[in-house]
Amino acid sequence: MHTKKDEYILAIETSCDETAAAVIKNGTEVVANVVASQIESHKRFGGVVPEIASRHHVEQITIVLEETFEQAKMTVDDVDAIAVTEGPGLVGALLVGVNAAKALAFAHNKPLIGVHHIAGHIYANRLVEEFTFPLLALVVSGGHTELILMREHGKFEVIGETRDDAAGEAYDKVARTLDLSYPGGPQIDKLAQIGKEMIDFPRAWLEEGSYDFSFSGLKSSVINTIHNATQRGEVLKKEDIAASFQASVVEVLTEKAYQAAKKYQVKQVIVAGGVAANQTLRKSLTDKFDQEPVALLIPPLWLCTDNAAMIGAAGSIAYTLGHRSDWFLNANPGLDIELYGRR
Ligand code: KG4
Ligand code: ZN
Repeated sequence: MHTKKDEYILAIETSCDETAAAVIKNGTEVVANVVASQIESHKRFGGVVPEIASRHHVEQITIVLEETFEQAKMTVDDVDAIAVTEGPGLVGALLVGVNAAKALAFAHNKPLIGVHHIAGHIYANRLVEEFTFPLLALVVSGGHTELILMREHGKFEVIGETRDDAAGEAYDKVARTLDLSYPGGPQIDKLAQIGKEMIDFPRAWLEEGSYDFSFSGLKSSVINTIHNATQRGEVLKKEDIAASFQASVVEVLTEKAYQAAKKYQVKQVIVAGGVAANQTLRKSLTDKFDQEPVALLIPPLWLCTDNAAMIGAAGSIAYTLGHRSDWFLNANPGLDIELYGRR
């Protein structure tokens, strides 16, 4: 009997402030997964400092790779291909991963596969459950807020995107105004759970039928409300501001995802990116899709924030589709996901 050989992908991710590597078996099974976070180093600056991020990646990449092979009980010769995030992200950070992947692939004669970071966030869900098309992905990360329609593996249609700030960015900026440390998203989430929705912040619905988002008006409204209260000598509770702000973000994200899912009659709705870790968003989407004939997929928390397992999952699909990068592969901070899918 002929049995298909198992496929192993080594994946590397260094687009922002996590140095990460993973080994993924047959596209869906995590064999090893190592994430070295730099959050502590960036905290005192209130955000990610690109130069510091690059330096950390250089220091960490070899250690992270060694630990990954140790966990997997494998060497680089045992993998079928090497996948790496080529963009979007911070150019100096991406370069560290791209060069490590190129060096390993060249030295060990392995195929090299450049992966789009957001495709990775989306494919994190495939480590939990198989995809059923057409599907809608609600992408909510630090740099991206998008509704992406997928009719088949590896192809992405952006049907809505933010016109200004990303959801995670709004979270981090509001958190800064509230004197919360970086990254602000998880802290606002925690405070919101004990706060009351006392302030009616705006919801940017935009034109009828649009699946685009806008969070800069909300962000300014929150910041103005805090400043005005301070000038009047009033004290607003941080937890109430957090709850009110979060209610606005979650309502818009949930409603737009719901409308788009209906319009495109998708079979699955998947949530992707760091903000997918948000408790209120998870609950709101679960409630909204509860009675609908649509399967809702929300990844576990460790798959929401940046990791390399998701890059391996997306890399495996690219490998199966025959995508190969050459030795000119470069960091591409502005890589477009639709163009990436048309390779
Ligand atoms: O996907 P990610 O790890 O990095 C990017 O690709 O951008 O997302 C990071 C973002 C940050 O803005 C962080 O504040 C936000 O995700 N985040 C959250 C939560 N956990 C992380 N936002 C809201 N609630 C959370 N629980
Ligand atoms: Zn990310």
